[in-house]
Amino acid sequence: MKKIITILGATGNVGSKTVKHLLGKGHTLRLIARGVEKLSAFKNESGVEIHSGTATDSDFLSRVMKGSDVVFLMMPADFTAVNIGAYQDKLGLAIIDAIKKSGVKKVLNLSSVGGHTEEKTGIVAGLARQEKRLNELTDVDVLHLRPSYFMENLLGNIPIIKNMHVNGSPIAADRAFPIIATADVARAAAEQLTSATWSGKSVQPLLGPKDYTMNEVTSVLSNAIGQPNLPYVQFPFDQAKQGMMQMGLNESFADAYIGLSDGINHGVFNLEKRDHTSTTPTTIEDFAANTFKPVYHSN
Ligand SMILES: NC(=O)c1ccc[n+]([C@@H]2O[C@H](COP(=O)([O-])OP(=O)(O)OC[C@H]3O[C@@H](n4cnc5c(N)ncnc54)[C@H](OP(=O)(O)O)[C@@H]3O)[C@@H](O)[C@H]2O)c1
Repeated sequence: MKKIITILGATGNVGSKTVKHLLGKGHTLRLIARGVEKLSAFKNESGVEIHSGTATDSDFLSRVMKGSDVVFLMMPADFTAVNIGAYQDKLGLAIIDAIKKSGVKKVLNLSSVGGHTEEKTGIVAGLARQEKRLNELTDVDVLHLRPSYFMENLLGNIPIIKNMHVNGSPIAADRAFPIIATADVARAAAEQLTSATWSGKSVQPLLGPKDYTMNEVTSVLSNAIGQPNLPYVQFPFDQAKQGMMQMGLNESFADAYIGLSDGINHGVFNLEKRDHTSTTPTTIEDFAANTFKPVYHSN
C-alpha cells in the first residue's frame, strides 16, 4: 500500500539509504534535515517533499508529520552542544510533543543496542530515555530499532591510521561486540516502514553478521588498504578524551563517547539476542572493500 512516510535525518548515513530504498514505490516521502544542500539531492524525485528545519522545533516537526501514516524518527547528536545529555532531552521532548500535536499513530524509532538502560551506555543513555518517553505514549504504536555500533564509525579512525600508523580507540582490543553496516540498518528500516505492521511497543535488535573484536576489525581494514599488520592500540580514556577534544569535539561529547566505549568494554552492548532476525548480512570484509578502502584513498 502507498503511504505517507516522514523521515527525520533523511540525509544521514541511515536516513539517506532508507530513502533510496523507498523511492519509486509510489509513497509520499517527507524528508527532514537542517541542511538544504544535501536534502536538495532528492528534490527532483517523484513523491518527495523536502522539509528543511530543526527537530528541536516541535511546531515545525508536527506540521511536517501531520497526516503521515508512519514516521521514522531518530536522535542525531549535536557535536557542538555544551551538554550532550541536555541536548538529547530537549530534542527528545520536542519529538514527543510533535507526535502528540500531529496525531501520528505509528512510529519507527532509531534507537541503539543498550537502549534498555542508562547504565554504562554513554551517549546511548539519551536514546534509552527517549525509548522510555515513547513507551509512555498511550495510543501510539512504536517499534524501536536497536542497531549495534556502526561500521561507518570506523571511518573516523582514518586520521589516526594515517598520522599514527596504528588503529586505535578506547575500546578494548579483544572484546567481541556486534558491529553493523548502516546499509543493513536502512534496509531493515525501509522494510518496516513499507509494511508498518507493528502494534503496541516492541523492539527489533540489528546486530551485523557476527561479533567482532577491534583486533579482527583492524586486521581486515589494514589488509583492505594495503597496510597489513597495522597494530590496534587501546588508548587510555584520558588520552582518548584529549585526542577527541584536539579534533574539535567538545568535552561533553568526548565524555559520552568514552562512556560508550566503557560500556562496550563491559559487555553492556552484547545483551540483545543474536538470531536470524537480528543478524544482518554485510560483513566487515564487505565494508572494508566497498566503503573504507575508497574513503581511505580519497583523502
Ligand atoms: N553511530 C552509531 O554507532 C550508532 C549506533 C546505533 C544507533 N545510532 C543512532 O543512529 C542515529 C543516526 O545515525 P547516522 O549515522 O545516520 O547519523 P548522521 O549520518 O549523523 O545523520 C544525522 C541526520 O540527522 C539530521 N539532523 C541532525 N540534527 C538534526 C536536527 N536537530 N533536526 C533535524 N535534522 C537533524 C542530519 O542532517 P543535518 O545535519 O543537515 O540536519 C542528518 O540527516 C544516531 O544519531 C544514533 O542515535 C548510531
